[in-house]
Amino acid sequence: KNIAVILAGGTGSRTGFNKPKQMMKLAGKPVVEHAAQAFQLNQAIDEIIIVSNADCISDIEQTVMSSRLSKVRSVIAGGSERYDSSLAAIRATKHYCKDYNVQLIFHDAVRPLLSQKIIDEVVAALGKYNAVDVVIKTTDTIIMADPVTNTIANIPNRAVLRNGQTPQAFAHATIEAAYERALQDPGFVTTDDCGVVLKYLPEEKIYLVDGDTSNMKLTYEEDLHVLDKLCQLRSTLAETREKIQFTLSGLKGKVLVVFGG
Ligand code: CTP
Repeated sequence: KNIAVILAGGTGSRTGFNKPKQMMKLAGKPVVEHAAQAFQLNQAIDEIIIVSNADCISDIEQTVMSSRLSKVRSVIAGGSERYDSSLAAIRATKHYCKDYNVQLIFHDAVRPLLSQKIIDEVVAALGKYNAVDVVIKTTDTIIMADPVTNTIANIPNRAVLRNGQTPQAFAHATIEAAYERALQDPGFVTTDDCGVVLKYLPEEKIYLVDGDTSNMKLTYEEDLHVLDKLCQLRSTLAETREKIQFTLSGLKGKVLVVFGG
């Protein structure tokens, strides 16, 4: 059973908006609805769980009903840290494990433009690995700073650096075992589920799937404008593709189309 977990438990304090960023409208729909829609459309996904902050549960339930997100089984309350929200989903899906081979595909609610290709590749990789992350190549040079002297401590080789995105996907037993160990560690801190597996189940290989730049995260106010433009571009491309297909189907049998180099 492939269960998508949409993490919408945060408040979006860095945006300065007057409501959580996952509830802001993008192309007429809340950001979280776009994220859930990507999984609704994907045939490999059986079920969706949305983890919400307590103030937004009823708004999200309303959105689920009005937008025909039929795969959404529940909207549950998250916790104060992102990992508390992940844990809420791990616990809420535990009962399935006695009857099914359960895989959890965690996705940030604030990455609304997730492609079907990425979901397909993540699910395919789960066939071979118990843990999968989505990354893109880093384009900026990354500087490791010495915060005390505010000087450069190191410049890691860019060729091996990646920017992490989501989804991050796991066999249920793997992510559950990693958190079990993490919660026994008094010094446990994390912002990322793959980080928990990397630290507490170091024997587990975490496979990397290529993400894309459109799968960007809404972090600051200006990101909403960029996402809006990307959204428009995506619908223009889809319309153009439809027009081309329509024209080609009208021409079928009448002309021979030859693609040359
Ligand atoms: N998230 C969550 N539960 C939390 C914190 C974050 O489910 N307690 C989710 C957010 O809703 C978001 C994703 O994790 O979809 C990525 O987190 P981030 O961008 O850090 O979101 P916020 O914590 O809401 O943002 P900020 O740090 O600006 O407050």
